[in-house]
Amino acid sequence: MVDVVLDPRRVTGRVDPMVFGSFVENLHRCVYGGLFDPDSPVADDEGFRTDVIATARAMKVSNVRFPGGCFAAYYHWKDGIGPREQRPRTRYRADDTWPASNAVGTDEFVAWCRKVGAEPYLCVNMGTGTAEAARDWVEYCNGRAGSRWADARIAGGHAEPYGVRYWALGNEISGPWEQGYTATAEEYIQRARDFAMAMKAADPTISLVVSGAHFPIDFPQPHWNRDVLAALYEYADYVSMHHYIGHDYKDDIRTRYPSMSTREVHDFLTEHMRLLEDAIGLLREDIKLVNHSRGVAVNRIGIALDEYNAWYKTDGSQGDDLVETYPLSDALLIGAYFNIFLRNADVLRLANMAQLVNTLPAMVVESGGSGAFRQGISYVQELFAASAGLQAIDVWCDSPARPGSYYPNVAHLDVSASYDSAAREIQLFAVNRDPDQAYPLNLVSPAGALRVRETAVIGGDSLDAANSFAEPSAIRIDRGPVSEERPPVVPPAAVLRVTLTLE
Ligand code: AHR
Repeated sequence: MVDVVLDPRRVTGRVDPMVFGSFVENLHRCVYGGLFDPDSPVADDEGFRTDVIATARAMKVSNVRFPGGCFAAYYHWKDGIGPREQRPRTRYRADDTWPASNAVGTDEFVAWCRKVGAEPYLCVNMGTGTAEAARDWVEYCNGRAGSRWADARIAGGHAEPYGVRYWALGNEISGPWEQGYTATAEEYIQRARDFAMAMKAADPTISLVVSGAHFPIDFPQPHWNRDVLAALYEYADYVSMHHYIGHDYKDDIRTRYPSMSTREVHDFLTEHMRLLEDAIGLLREDIKLVNHSRGVAVNRIGIALDEYNAWYKTDGSQGDDLVETYPLSDALLIGAYFNIFLRNADVLRLANMAQLVNTLPAMVVESGGSGAFRQGISYVQELFAASAGLQAIDVWCDSPARPGSYYPNVAHLDVSASYDSAAREIQLFAVNRDPDQAYPLNLVSPAGALRVRETAVIGGDSLDAANSFAEPSAIRIDRGPVSEERPPVVPPAAVLRVTLTLE
């Protein structure tokens, strides 16, 4: 039996609903042939796939980032407004990864977000775009009648401002692969300040996400985040970071993975998930330092992990279409992501699983047809999203561990918890990364007796188990048994949610 101590009096932060975000980029079949697919029999009268909307709703997607990603650095939003038949077709790259009919522009994306019940989160073009164009986009979305671009929106039949709150000042701009690459923090600061001033002039209430060091560990310029936050303090509401487990940094297995066994991949990536928590810790310290230098004790700046997922099987450089399959082992990694979000709720305030459909997908659809299936990772978000808006609380778990190759040891059980004080309800999330053993949990609280009300579990026959068109439910959420006498058990290689009442 593994002891787990839950203390609802030790609140570590609020689980910001915005950490349950998603991402749709005009990359391969995500936007066109994914969320927008007018030829599909399951499309609604606006051409949006109803199965994609249903999945996003089930995942309780709170915000959706658009139009990229790297694509954002080529996107000219003015191509996507006005009568559809007059919009230009564009091919931003000759290799056909990003062809756009521009049928899904700002109006359509916002309309689709409303159907999903999510906030739009727009990333402006700091590659081939200008500060003026970014300003105009804010005005188009949020401006009142009597200004040029707000009037253009109104003329298109959208009288009410969209009230788009979240805006990113570029994407991965500290990376040499990015169009518009700024090689030094100073270069970025200069450009981002221009953009921020212009955008805030159009709507001072927007929240801006400044482009942080792509990932703060091993980043060539260790001061990037500190310098950018210090210089752009007046404008920065969030600082971004991206993390694709298996893809970059010390955890990169893209070339090695075909020669590794499933178990080796699983053990290696499970261990290296801890890099993300370390990176969040480093960024938290940078934010604190900058706050203190401004004489501010209460932190206003949040971390936006505005792209994350497992990514090591598809490459993308050969024009492959990035339909990565996500087996149970990857679903467990996503469970670890959400545990990290809850454990770091004081500072992690926005996150976007990359991406929603067909490209690094939470779900896969047959473009032009009606076939579709949800991948296991989408169910993991659904399970954790029950904690949106609740208090994240301290949880201690006496987990058995194995030795690691980088970190000294790797806990088999990875846990987090949230608390609903009005309902006196605790949710414990336990990811069992041990594929060989189940663990019964001895759940106790110094705040009172606990009663198990419900258990829900995501598991599968093996680490390789994966959903597909042929077998869409190999990984799903199952309700588990609830018993007064027997403790909840987390099965081997599974994500368990236990809902408890504090009596
Ligand atoms: O999500 C796919 C790509 O990964 C995005 O375009 C880019 O921002 C990241 O490197």
